[in-house]
Amino acid sequence: MATVLAKAADGAESLEHAARIERVSKSFAGPAGAQLVLDDISLDVAPGEFVTLLGASGCGKSTLLNLVAGLDRPSTGTITTDGRPALMFQEHALFPWLTAGKNIELALKLRGVAKNERRGRAEELLTLVRLDGSYQKRVHELSGGMRQRVAMARALAQDSRLLLMDEPFAALDAITRDVLHDELTRIWQETGLSVLFVTHNVREAVRLAQRVVLLSSRPGRVAREWTVDIPQPRRVEDAPVAELSVEITEVLRGEIRRHGQH
Ligand SMILES: Nc1ncnc2c1ncn2[C@@H]1O[C@H](COP(=O)(O)OP(=O)(O)OP(=O)(O)O)[C@@H](O)[C@H]1O
Ligand SMILES: [Mg+2]
Repeated sequence: MATVLAKAADGAESLEHAARIERVSKSFAGPAGAQLVLDDISLDVAPGEFVTLLGASGCGKSTLLNLVAGLDRPSTGTITTDGRPALMFQEHALFPWLTAGKNIELALKLRGVAKNERRGRAEELLTLVRLDGSYQKRVHELSGGMRQRVAMARALAQDSRLLLMDEPFAALDAITRDVLHDELTRIWQETGLSVLFVTHNVREAVRLAQRVVLLSSRPGRVAREWTVDIPQPRRVEDAPVAELSVEITEVLRGEIRRHGQH
């Protein structure tokens, strides 16, 4: 690993960056030859930072997140992360034959938590996502919002320092999404996690992040970024959130026009 190691207060070694993306490009083989999807992307996520990656559909957001997750390799460039990241997707990907509690315990088991500690830890995580008493519930008994809460608890069970989220709330109704934005903000503040959150929803990006990074399309490049200095908790309808969203939407529209999409 090229990144400088720093000693954390608890003695554990941790990187200076939660994630460091250095000059990353990615091409996929297609019928008309190699298709360049990501072009020379450099981006750091600081420890404890909340960054949203924003861009039009098909611009390469999920591709980039998958690279950071280690699910695929960049064509050129390097990516380093502070330990193994946890992942959360639009589809909850819970095992339907397990209860909410057992889904979380499975993640605890995979990271080597002793059997006699798993139940208690799973209950704690359910409390953290405000699902006390749902340990025995099966996936089909939970609403869409509740499933995403369990998926969030399961991601947190991995005890990673970096959480990667790919449009985790996109399939939810606006009110449920609002509530989960509040929960995610609270959990991020309580845990000190670093978050890299992908969305094509400008207001969601501004509602959540300390920094919004806009990707252009075809190929995906970092077009611009904004620091969001609006105090939390925010609401999507708050005037400063709405104003910055309008500004970012204008730039995003320009990017889409320039690349002839939609
Ligand atoms: N494994 C793959 N093989 C070939 N092409 C791929 C592969 N994965 C992604 N692509 C292509 O890369 C481009 C970017 O896809 P990606 O899924 O990263 O976009 P996205 O920004 O996440 O879009 P959305 O907002 O719709 O989720 C698309 O043109 C897609 O077809
Ligand atoms: Mg995607």
